[in-house]
Amino acid sequence: MAKIKGLIFDLDGIITDTAEYHYLGWKQLAEEEGMEFDRDFNEKFRGVSRLECLDLLLEKNNREITFEKRKRMAERKNNYYNEYLKTIDRNNLLDGIFDILQRSKRAGYKMAIASASKNTKTVIEKLDIGDMFNAISDGYSVKKTKPAPDLFLHTAKKLNLKPEECVVFEDAKAGIDAALAANMTAVGIGPESRVGHADYRFDSVKDIDLTKILEF
Ligand code: BG6
Ligand code: MG
Repeated sequence: MAKIKGLIFDLDGIITDTAEYHYLGWKQLAEEEGMEFDRDFNEKFRGVSRLECLDLLLEKNNREITFEKRKRMAERKNNYYNEYLKTIDRNNLLDGIFDILQRSKRAGYKMAIASASKNTKTVIEKLDIGDMFNAISDGYSVKKTKPAPDLFLHTAKKLNLKPEECVVFEDAKAGIDAALAANMTAVGIGPESRVGHADYRFDSVKDIDLTKILEF
């Protein structure tokens, strides 16, 4: 096995819990449009791009709309989401993540963010953690979204590392699929039913035991 030299972190659900704000944004749009939507269905949106989430919502509600209307709806949801983003700061880091970032940085690992979100830069700025990372990839970086390996492969290249030298931390099924497809070590955060196929799994970020994954 290759020596691990880089750590790649998903953003939403690993660094910070923005899933609730995404949920509230989608809920407002769904209510205004008279569409059915609940927390359970929101779980399907983990790691999935904005337009693909909207398509899932439209499909659930048997709605067919024009491309233009679809674009406007996605934009509206994003505006609602951005209102919530205005309220976040360092206190919104998930329990235990700052310690993990600091320890790995001190240990000399290269570090990156790889998120499907087009709001990645805003979120990182609000959390004030940009200086921890050597590379940041987001929803603009590649065409093919998770579960395709493209975003992680693009990120490894930016870090100047081979895929097998990278570990990915992910909370989404699509994210674990993408990491494994990229030939990287996958660490899943969440229930067995969602990320059980990862190389390592922990219930939550604060349960991550780096010594099990890396040579400290
Ligand atoms: C992912 C989230 O990180 O980003 C998804 O897990 C979200 O729920 C996706 O849909 C896209 O986010 P954004 O900010 O581009 O709408
Ligand atoms: Mg995520």
